[in-house]
Amino acid sequence: MTRPDSKSSRSELVAKRFGARAAQYDEHALLQRESAARLAAFIGAHGGLPATGLVAEIGCGTGLLTSLLSPSAESYLATDIAPEMLARCRERLGHLPQLSFDVQDGEQICFASPPAAIVTNLTAQWFQNPVAGLCRLAVKTRRLAFAVPVSGSFPEWRQAFHDLGREPGLLPLPDAGELTSALAALPGRTGFFETATHVIRYESARAFADSFRNIGADQPRQGYRPEPIRPVLARFADGMDATAHVLYGYVR
Ligand SMILES: C[S@@+](CC[C@H](N)C(=O)[O-])C[C@H]1O[C@@H](n2cnc3c(N)ncnc32)[C@H](O)[C@@H]1O
Repeated sequence: MTRPDSKSSRSELVAKRFGARAAQYDEHALLQRESAARLAAFIGAHGGLPATGLVAEIGCGTGLLTSLLSPSAESYLATDIAPEMLARCRERLGHLPQLSFDVQDGEQICFASPPAAIVTNLTAQWFQNPVAGLCRLAVKTRRLAFAVPVSGSFPEWRQAFHDLGREPGLLPLPDAGELTSALAALPGRTGFFETATHVIRYESARAFADSFRNIGADQPRQGYRPEPIRPVLARFADGMDATAHVLYGYVR
């Protein structure tokens, strides 16, 4: 008897959830829009992207970062694991002749020849192993620029569950120190890193939970068993600040 490949089935679930929300993603992707703008500025502040060669993007989604970076690239490959997301990106930017599109799992991706740069915004947290996945991408190119939410994010939500003796279904996020150490230890690479705090105010706990559901980012952590969240909803009846810590990196 063969056992299901848990790695690929989880990736399929993630792709399905994002794909199902592709049409409404832009309306709800508040943090992603903020971090795409900040990542583009961070790249600019650290020398920019190479003027020639291929820039490959991992997890382009509907193209929030793509639209900021691809116009000045010589050649730009937008990839995503969800075909529906990629289709939205193509709708938005397919008129640019330097752009091409491909459905790819960024954790497994291979290139015929090394891209001049790889970029990725709020996607690597979906990898089975974000630290190893980002290190793998860093050695495939001379320049890797990324933004990833790190552990310690959404403390308000976690605390509300801890006070009930429970763990929320949130995805485990990579540790910033572990990630920067692993990337900085790659031979011949120099890393520039910055952590920024993004606070988004939601009118209720339900609105916060919906903010994940509405963009398809609601595949819970492995082993999570949903239980009623009435006490959590009551705790944030007057609104909720959701604090995300995002690590920005440029490894060259
Ligand atoms: C939170 S969205 C971010 C999308 C886009 N980068 C943005 O900033 O709007 C995460 C994206 O990563 C994609 N994704 C998730 N796991 C992936 C993987 N292993 N390889 C490639 N893309 C992946 C999802 O389909 C989704 O489009």
